[in-house]
Amino acid sequence: MTREQDEALEAVFARYRGQPGATIPLLQEAQEIYGYLPQEVIRRIARELGVPVSKVFGVATFYAQFHLKPRGRHIIRVCQGTACHVRGSATILEAVEEELGISRGETTADLRFTIEPVACLGCCGLAPVMMVNEETHGRLTKDQVAKILAQYP
Ligand code: FES
Repeated sequence: MTREQDEALEAVFARYRGQPGATIPLLQEAQEIYGYLPQEVIRRIARELGVPVSKVFGVATFYAQFHLKPRGRHIIRVCQGTACHVRGSATILEAVEEELGISRGETTADLRFTIEPVACLGCCGLAPVMMVNEETHGRLTKDQVAKILAQYP
């Protein structure tokens, strides 16, 4: 957590001060700033709102959009939907895991990649599909995986 990030968080607090229902927007903006929600930031949000830490923590863990652990610079989403499953997405996911040495849901130690299995990505015609950040890679074979990941430093 840098001083710039802490100042940005203070500015967000100032904007929402006194507004009801600020918990979720504060968590969203804090996550924008830090990339995830460190425990200390959750504590600060609770202090700002004057509510127990457990309450803010409860909201943060309830919604899938919030991340309590650091995430990689690049988010890999390997589709686990039916069409992709039928066309071998499990092999693609395994190839990604093997290439990076981590399992689904984990982040590499250098914070380069996070793997997130997801349900249908909405482009089943391209199955099997994975997205890296906002880019879609379709009709994949496991042999393409290493080359694709190398594009994301
Ligand atoms: S099932 Fe994979 S994109 Fe729809």
